[in-house]
Amino acid sequence: MAATDSIHGMWSSRLMFILAAAGSAVGLGNIWRFPYVAGENGGGAFVLVYLACIFLIGIPIMASEILIGRAGRQSPINAMRSLAMDSGASSGWQVVGWMGALAGFMILSFYAVIAGWVLSYVILLGSGAFVGADADLANNTFQGFVGNAWSVLGWFTGFIVLTVFITARGVGRGLETTVKYLMPTLFVLLIVLVIYAAVTSGHFTEGVLFLFSFEFERLTWGSVLIAMGQAFFTLSLGMGAIMAYGAYMPKNTSIIGTATTIALMDTGVALMSGLVIFPLVFANGLESSAGPGLMFVTLPLAFGQMAGGQFFGCIFFILVAFAAITSAISLVEPAVAWIVEKLEATRVVAALLVGALVWLLGLGSAFSTNILSDVFIVGEMTFFDTMDYVTNNIVLPLGGIFIALFAGWVLDSKIRDEEMKGDLPYYPIWRFLTRFVAPVAVSIVFVMTFLQN
Ligand code: TRP
Repeated sequence: MAATDSIHGMWSSRLMFILAAAGSAVGLGNIWRFPYVAGENGGGAFVLVYLACIFLIGIPIMASEILIGRAGRQSPINAMRSLAMDSGASSGWQVVGWMGALAGFMILSFYAVIAGWVLSYVILLGSGAFVGADADLANNTFQGFVGNAWSVLGWFTGFIVLTVFITARGVGRGLETTVKYLMPTLFVLLIVLVIYAAVTSGHFTEGVLFLFSFEFERLTWGSVLIAMGQAFFTLSLGMGAIMAYGAYMPKNTSIIGTATTIALMDTGVALMSGLVIFPLVFANGLESSAGPGLMFVTLPLAFGQMAGGQFFGCIFFILVAFAAITSAISLVEPAVAWIVEKLEATRVVAALLVGALVWLLGLGSAFSTNILSDVFIVGEMTFFDTMDYVTNNIVLPLGGIFIALFAGWVLDSKIRDEEMKGDLPYYPIWRFLTRFVAPVAVSIVFVMTFLQN
């Protein structure tokens, strides 16, 4: 049976687990990806589908990941393997863990590239590069930066080094110390920015309406798939990140309650980011559907036009950088924990190894906006676009289906009942959503998207 503590260390309290998991969840997905994807897919109706996915699919799967992790007390690969065997099922379930570790590499490889852009934008905004800038200048600055292979590579490498450094210091001194300081700071900064946008833009209601008015005609199965993929991505689900963190969670704390808290924090940050970005976009007569450049072109331009924009713009990108680093460390944790268990390597060696592999894979994404910008992997998608699309819309939802099936059907009910005993009134609801709703809903979206194309 599983030990009471993991060999990797433990969170010192339930609150620290919440901050770590919220740190994983709140990231570029909330601040960079959510607003531009919502913008591209027409706002309100998309947001509604996204919220439905968070509550009906996301929270049950997050609870499943925490449950599996805490019951197994090991890396996702070994937790799935030993729990499957304890439950009289095939050890082949560990494949879900393998797929997840691989997805972590793929996600971080492009995630670290964007995070690198963010780091360089902290400096750019802080130095006043966008003060009084017009659209051409903002656009040229962005194109010039991402078009320069060396600077992109430098910032990307810097971000990976930072991730490796924190990871190597371990669960307590590395991960927990980082989230303990960065997450509260992030929340405060975000509230300051929402107030700033509300007070100075004069277009706050327009932003609110954009996010919350439902135009269902604009919804296709393709955009439903993107909303669902976004829900998985933003909650860090489907690849074992939350499972790995769950392995370090104290016993006797409620799982469903904790998962719900984390999901609410994550959703709150995404919506608040929208409430910072869209009022600024509308105040300056810019396009809400600007795509991935929304945060890097439109926003600096907007800040450049506003009182205190140099200062608040710099703060904004610092906030994004904090959000990114507390997510990146969760993307490598499954692989790092597995290497420590399997090869009996130290965390330092494991973190360096994983970092090196992510860096190699990430070269493809780092160069997707410059030397490799004409190289398309699928259709018109660059290496970067392919990694983003495949992980969000295929690998994570697929991983989610298997995790839900495993927690709902395969796992020995004695183990499940034991872990869920602090969640009694909600336990049957969770079980129903996990057994039926989540796997069926994800499958339907897959099939319908496929048929519609
Ligand atoms: N959730 C993070 C974000 O929104 C990204 C992330 C961290 C992630 N760990 C993950 C996504 C695991 C999927 C799986 O930015």
